[in-house]
Amino acid sequence: MTLEVNAQVGERVFDDLVASLEQPVSLNPGRQLDSPEIIRGVSTDGLVVVGDASQALLDLPRMRPEVVGQVKLCYLDPPYNTGERFAYYDDRRDSDAWLADLKSHLEDLRPLLASDASVWVHLDDSEQHRARVVLDEVFGRAAFVGTIIWQKRLTRDSRKAFSSMHDYIHVYAPAGPKAWKRVRNGLSDGGAFANPDNDPRGPWRSAPMSVQAGHATLSQFYTVVTPTGVKHDPPAGRCWTYTEARLAQLVAEGRVYWPRSGDGKPRLKRYRSESGGLAPFTIWTASEVGDTASAKKALLREFPAMAAFDTPKPIGLLERIVEIATNPGDLVLDYYLGSGTTAVAAQRLGRQWVGVERNEDVVDRFVVPRLVSEYRSNPAGGIGLSRLG
Ligand SMILES: C[S@@+](CC[C@H](N)C(=O)[O-])C[C@H]1O[C@@H](n2cnc3c(N)ncnc32)[C@H](O)[C@@H]1O
Repeated sequence: MTLEVNAQVGERVFDDLVASLEQPVSLNPGRQLDSPEIIRGVSTDGLVVVGDASQALLDLPRMRPEVVGQVKLCYLDPPYNTGERFAYYDDRRDSDAWLADLKSHLEDLRPLLASDASVWVHLDDSEQHRARVVLDEVFGRAAFVGTIIWQKRLTRDSRKAFSSMHDYIHVYAPAGPKAWKRVRNGLSDGGAFANPDNDPRGPWRSAPMSVQAGHATLSQFYTVVTPTGVKHDPPAGRCWTYTEARLAQLVAEGRVYWPRSGDGKPRLKRYRSESGGLAPFTIWTASEVGDTASAKKALLREFPAMAAFDTPKPIGLLERIVEIATNPGDLVLDYYLGSGTTAVAAQRLGRQWVGVERNEDVVDRFVVPRLVSEYRSNPAGGIGLSRLG
């Protein structure tokens, strides 16, 4: 089996789509969509591979050598081995075989990863504890960054002894959590920054300039005199963060804010441009990123005539993961693409991506139309489709 770039995948769906477009849409920058060939054209922005992950992970480095060592984020949402049969895939396997596949895929993934990559593996209670051991084996225990608990449902399932409302997303960074923290993005802290004094360094917010006195040196205890002449000693049990000389330097640089019209205690200006954002919590609620029901509803609105895809992830969840783990232009890989949520999020956020899905029907019914509609609302970049065969 080889990877045939530009193969005619889902021809009927493509032709129907092209025929249905009222306005031609350019799926490659600068080119008009005037024939189905263009829609199938390979671009550097996104690539859907129709085929099994085992084969795709071997073929990708041969057919697309430029992806080797470039994958910055690999998000994996495999069948969890729940014992259920879904409309589009069977989720019943022998546990050892399931784990063996997980392991061999992760081993084949390793050479594709960038040195500062992260791998996010999304699971439920069926196999997550055994998968953690496999992840430790493949990437090393020191590569474990954390496990995110995602609130996947809000309604109670009374058929079970406990009504499970969460999934696990295990995050590993082969470079280790400390090194990865330096490259990962924190969460946006909303509208907390402003620029009321037109500071040329841009929007800022202020933080107290005193700390607990436990490890203080004598040079951190002194009386501060504000620009209006008000005197302040450090609050009880605290000392100033900086020495008097350092404070004077910060004042000279315009990095100190004096509240209460110059009468208040000094506060440090922290600039948005210097902020690494907020460290993400390990619990992500449905109200922040969506849940399975909202993801299914959104997909049903888009494809009302189609049998529902049972296990889509909400776009908000994938957008958050892509934003934390990558920057614009970085490469994202998902080799259990399902309905294509990772590809849509990556495309929307200006990342390159490769998605692998073995069920061609799922690609035709969900992935391609979702991507085409994404292009129509934001016609930048291109799409490529390939088939293993
Ligand atoms: C849980 S779903 C992924 C859902 C996806 N995250 C979404 O938001 O729609 C898992 C998908 O992996 C696909 N899959 C399972 N085993 C695979 C394999 N070995 N290679 C490629 N795709 C596979 C299934 O067909 C299914 O669509």
